[in-house]
Amino acid sequence: MSVTTVFPQHVIAKKRDGGVLSRDEIAGFVRGATDGSWADYQLSAMLMAIVWRGMTPQETAHYTEAMMHSGVVADLSSVKQPKADKHSTGGVGDKVSLHLAPMVAACGVAVPMISGRGLGHTGGTLDKLEAIPGFRVNLPLAEYRAELERIGLSLIGQTADLAPADKKLYALRDVTGTVESIPLICGSILSKKLAEGIDVLVLDVKFGRGAFMKDKAKARELAQALVSVATQMGKPTRAVMTAMEQPLGRAVGNALEVVESIECLKGRGPEDTMAVTYALGEQMLVLTGAAKTTAEARERLEQSISRGTALQKMRELVAMQGGDAVVVDEPSRLPRARLRVPLAAPRAGFVADVDAMAVALAALRLGAGRAKAEDSVDHAVGVSDLVKIGEPVAAGAPLCVVHANDEKALAEANAMLTKAIAIGSNAVAAPRLVDEIIGA
Ligand code: URA
Repeated sequence: MSVTTVFPQHVIAKKRDGGVLSRDEIAGFVRGATDGSWADYQLSAMLMAIVWRGMTPQETAHYTEAMMHSGVVADLSSVKQPKADKHSTGGVGDKVSLHLAPMVAACGVAVPMISGRGLGHTGGTLDKLEAIPGFRVNLPLAEYRAELERIGLSLIGQTADLAPADKKLYALRDVTGTVESIPLICGSILSKKLAEGIDVLVLDVKFGRGAFMKDKAKARELAQALVSVATQMGKPTRAVMTAMEQPLGRAVGNALEVVESIECLKGRGPEDTMAVTYALGEQMLVLTGAAKTTAEARERLEQSISRGTALQKMRELVAMQGGDAVVVDEPSRLPRARLRVPLAAPRAGFVADVDAMAVALAALRLGAGRAKAEDSVDHAVGVSDLVKIGEPVAAGAPLCVVHANDEKALAEANAMLTKAIAIGSNAVAAPRLVDEIIGA
């Protein structure tokens, strides 16, 4: 790529007026974000111009490529197995990475997974892993590679040298109303994932009340753009579109979700969580060629649970990253909240609704998530044993158990959850969860 001088004001004006940017112009913008040669006001103006004018598929591919090469791209050629990762656009109670990664690794596909912290209402994968005493997520890339060579699995946080342009631009987008742009989201997500050193990528693109993209048509557009750009960049990619109207599984909160993930690995996972897990895992095995068909992939993933190999991978992962691996067999060693109180159903009937966003806000009130990037999370708190849409309930029976470390937060969360869970007189069907696979 040539390093011709690109004047910020010219590039900004060109995009403002609806022009199509060249590869050099886009590279200049991304370089300006990385080395500080563009001022924050110029970067912000450029981001807003992209939000308004959009980018062509070619511009989006150039942008993603420049973002990915703004830092190091991990070289995992020493890892002999095929390498697949999964990324979720994020949902309430979405703990799938925690058990899917060891399941896929147990099937002979390496899983290099670099995740983020939750900035939404509940914790992200790293927050959940850090609920395990001693678990280290801040591993340097050399240790990440060594772990992958040894056990075929590593789950770490983003290092400073991985896609640094995204760190800069995302922080600006967050405070300038420029998050909602498909090309910008594409560049942000894919730059980080493609820098991990993967061969293939599977995306869980969620839509609905509890999702980042509420609107299904918009989520589908994002899924198509992600699949198309990543495939163009030589990484076979598929997206599984999944609904996020009610929380996934029955637990929301960091340690509580670790417990539920361990249950998944023991063959006792909630039906909806396992449906999403298998849909994603099947695509990971098929795309890497580890299985010829989704049926064969499903069988192998099921065997990883029934034979205990996935659970063993989880023990290895926790031990390799400095965590207390006994937790896998004794989840009671995880942090526990001081107050654990059932929330009683106000009447008998059927669960008509469990509003994912409202449950997430209740979990946030308890301290399970962070409202600002610098906030800390309480690993112990959250909601467990949550009812699912369509289930019958008796008057006074528990709708969930609320785990709190503070009486005032407990009372407020109880009030929020009482509103979030609607009981009706008639049975309703559970909503369809796995909707469509893009790129298959
Ligand atoms: N997640 C990301 O990592 N980046 C975005 O732009 C949006 C969601």
